[in-house]
Amino acid sequence: MTVAAPSEHRLALDNMRVSIGGSAILRGVTFSIREKTVFCLMGRNGVGKSTTLKALMGLLPLDAGSIHLGGAPVHPMPTAIRARAGLGYVPQGRDIFPHLTVEENLFIGLKARGMKKDKEEIDRVYTLFPIIKEFLHRKGGMLSGGQQQLAISRALLTKPNLLILDEPTEGIQPNIIDQIGDAIRMLREEGKMAILLVEQYLDFCRELGDDFAILERGAVCASGTMAELSDDTVKEFLTV
Ligand SMILES: Nc1ncnc2c1ncn2[C@@H]1O[C@H](COP(=O)(O)OP(=O)(O)OP(=O)(O)O)[C@@H](O)[C@H]1O
Ligand SMILES: [Mg+2]
Repeated sequence: MTVAAPSEHRLALDNMRVSIGGSAILRGVTFSIREKTVFCLMGRNGVGKSTTLKALMGLLPLDAGSIHLGGAPVHPMPTAIRARAGLGYVPQGRDIFPHLTVEENLFIGLKARGMKKDKEEIDRVYTLFPIIKEFLHRKGGMLSGGQQQLAISRALLTKPNLLILDEPTEGIQPNIIDQIGDAIRMLREEGKMAILLVEQYLDFCRELGDDFAILERGAVCASGTMAELSDDTVKEFLTV
């Protein structure tokens, strides 16, 4: 077996331990994401998927462990600096400003990079999600079903080198799930970033993912290439 050097990894999490209110939630999470690939972090409800992402973003402190982005340690850095280093995070659930227009919501993504305009990136977002262009002047909250696309678009305007999506298909109707899947596929083909996809929707992961890790009670219990994800593993750790 050949182990890739750290620099070949977009992200490397090593032995990440996190506790909340005195109880250990992450008990040593370790995995790495290869450059330009889609990595699926899977697992049943409450196993620590969102906690892993929050710790990665610096929204929760580490008790132990390290986080390397493109070979450089980012765990000592505050959230804003991690975002500037290339982590584009779309949290679980709706995270748009419902009373701002779609355009104003997007502007927040640009502003995070200190920019007012970026025609190239905006056009790219319109190509990925035509609904964004169509409803540019509507309130974000009126964008029923398209809110997830707006949240992803805003993260893309920060020009991340790792796009982090927490259950983007949760509570979303099937036609929009397809659009989000197509967008992830397009982004992967462009090859400008790696994608960390937290998902419970198995078919979505199988279609889009290059590699996977499954969490169980705050630790990785299985990992490999998506082709290696066996039905037995699915039954043991994913099926409810
Ligand atoms: N603020 C908190 N206070 C107390 N316990 C918490 C808090 N946040 C998370 N937990 C606990 O930590 C564990 C992991 O939660 P986490 O949100 O990471 O799970 P998850 O894998 O993302 O689940 P889901 O698929 O439901 O989103 C759960 O047992 C949860 O109850
Ligand atoms: Mg979660």
